[in-house]
Amino acid sequence: MYLDNAATSFPKPEKVYEAVLHAMRDVGASPGRGGYRCSLEAGRIVYKARESVADFFSIRDSSRVIFTHNATGALNLALQGTLVPGDHAITTSMEHNSLLRPLYALRKKGLELTIIPVGSDGVINVEDIRRELRANTRMIAVSHVSNVCGAIQPIQEISELCHNSGALFLVDAAQSAGHVPINVELMAIDLLAVPGHKGLLGPGGTGFLYVAPHVALKPVIQGGTGTNSTAEEQPLVVPDGFETGTHNLPGIAGLQAGIEFICEVGLSAIHQRENSLLIQAEQALRNITGVVIHGPANSSMRCSVLSFTASGVDSALLAAELDHGFDIAVRAGLHCAPLAHSSMGTAPGGTLRLSPGWFTTSEEIALFSDAVVQCIDKIRNIDNNS
Ligand SMILES: Cc1ncc(COP(=O)(O)O)c(C=O)c1O
Repeated sequence: MYLDNAATSFPKPEKVYEAVLHAMRDVGASPGRGGYRCSLEAGRIVYKARESVADFFSIRDSSRVIFTHNATGALNLALQGTLVPGDHAITTSMEHNSLLRPLYALRKKGLELTIIPVGSDGVINVEDIRRELRANTRMIAVSHVSNVCGAIQPIQEISELCHNSGALFLVDAAQSAGHVPINVELMAIDLLAVPGHKGLLGPGGTGFLYVAPHVALKPVIQGGTGTNSTAEEQPLVVPDGFETGTHNLPGIAGLQAGIEFICEVGLSAIHQRENSLLIQAEQALRNITGVVIHGPANSSMRCSVLSFTASGVDSALLAAELDHGFDIAVRAGLHCAPLAHSSMGTAPGGTLRLSPGWFTTSEEIALFSDAVVQCIDKIRNIDNNS
């Protein structure tokens, strides 16, 4: 039973597998690298995917969508491509290392960095950000939904704060894209980093960065773009100058099929199903002695993931018992967000996190809950007898 869709979604819709195979078996060529028919067909697949992404996120100009290999690539491009020494950036303690580590690296080169501590419910207090604004604040960078506890952050208020202060707004949508609606126009998002392989149901090795038209981006990787070959400098044209090297054509084809599947099923149907599975799990877990659910108390302020600890039980051991005894895949530990656990009071051991997906059933959640009871009993009995 796979309950780690926050890491990467599995299984994928059938049409995603078909699209990947079609790109590999029937098309084969590299897009934008030849004038022959199969290269042109590959180019059409990439164009169609870019248009689908743009439609899904209400992006007016699809050329502002830059394909990357994951959310990490998109975040690195957004941060390294805009911030310079002397700039000030604000982020929070709820962030993933994919956002924090590039910021730490930039800090070594002269970036001023403020990390806002977040309370134990994992929800950002917008006033805490407002207090830290400076004349040179160039960016506010936050995740839309916490990958540790599922807290949905007050994106709209943070966006207003950004625009009133002239800072760029970077949103890490790793745990929200494909789960809740994102409209870059209404939310006034300047930079949106998205993995293709999580909620969008595409294959591994896919993702993208949306860059608003007024944002000047510097490329962070130099190389071939298939055009402008005599220029010594990397072209600044979006998306070509930023998609250097061979595209992941099968991945991009699969991503397009994933988005198509979501549109067929309906984003709100997906959100409702995932939420009802999380509520079912939460209710069962709350009946177990010593279990604490972390994050916002109100389930309507949470999505995608549920994190818990059980008193006297090591989360990593519990995850291993669930895997070996019941073939259940869940993630234990710090989930690449160490500061979030300091805020939530779950450091150093972290939490056990489950993240159901569209294909998870209510029966599976019931089996999972029973298995947790048995594993916790087993671990506590071993400890009592030793
Ligand atoms: C909040 C958050 N940001 C960024 C990432 C990195 O995503 P990717 O694995 O696509 O690079 C993750 C992955 O789990 C995440 O949860």
